[in-house]
Amino acid sequence: MDLKETVREKYAKVAIRVVSADDKGSCCAGGCCGGTADPITSNLYDLAQTNDLPSKAIEASLGCGNPTALAQLSPGEVVLDLGSGGGIDVLLSAKRVGPTGRAYGLDMTDEMLALARENQRNAGVENVEFLKGDIENIPLPSNSIDVIISNCVINLSGDKDRVLAEAYRVLKPGGRFAVSDVVVDGEVPAEIRRNMELWVGCVAGALERQEYVEKLARAGFEAIRVEPTRVYDVENARAFLTGHRVDVDAVAPLVRDKFMSAFVRAQKPDVRR
Ligand SMILES: C[S@@+](CC[C@H](N)C(=O)[O-])C[C@H]1O[C@@H](n2cnc3c(N)ncnc32)[C@H](O)[C@@H]1O
Repeated sequence: MDLKETVREKYAKVAIRVVSADDKGSCCAGGCCGGTADPITSNLYDLAQTNDLPSKAIEASLGCGNPTALAQLSPGEVVLDLGSGGGIDVLLSAKRVGPTGRAYGLDMTDEMLALARENQRNAGVENVEFLKGDIENIPLPSNSIDVIISNCVINLSGDKDRVLAEAYRVLKPGGRFAVSDVVVDGEVPAEIRRNMELWVGCVAGALERQEYVEKLARAGFEAIRVEPTRVYDVENARAFLTGHRVDVDAVAPLVRDKFMSAFVRAQKPDVRR
């Protein structure tokens, strides 16, 4: 089975799990590496930020950061969330851009789109649209988006150059790329890179930090910055490696402080300047 199909299957199952859980929040989405104590996906949002969101939008949160808290979003702007999942960041963005703005979510997994649309209905917001499609082939016109956000999705793509080229294409001149993603500082063992379960868990496909910067520059972006938001120590590494056919005792110390969640920002040059 190909990489994309494996990713789709995993996130379809997560969406079904959230939908079929009772309304008391007894379901844990089982984040990037599974479980409430997931060091990557847990405790990303302040209660004050999420207390008026539908509970299933919060339960389906599978990100590795909080891009809407870090990105500058203004009323009237158009935002696109690459790999929007259950829609948490789209709903938060919609609030920030207000009724004169618009927030799009893009996702390839039908079950996630159904969940996101249900969350939109329950939130009662109208300036939101969830689109089906691939982040490698964004179904929106060129120069139409003010801000691209994304939360723990670009690391899942097998063609990151294409994703960044598409992000550049759809941004307006001067538009901002403001993404949370897992990145790596230095080399990681081949055993991790080859592991499909760790790829769909947002770890094995993480770009090396400098490589991310170079890829963004090649796509045409400027003002590129990669700012760590969480650095994963040995205990965190043990947590995300466990249960994935890896010799945890041997490998976890080798990746101590190498994996991190980061806020990656860049800008499409403003040709009007
Ligand atoms: C780790 S989850 C993150 C979801 C959401 N951003 C969040 O923070 O909760 C990854 C999501 O990206 C979607 N996805 C992964 N690869 C994709 C691709 N190449 N094109 C479109 N969607 C993709 C999956 O279907 C899934 O909903």
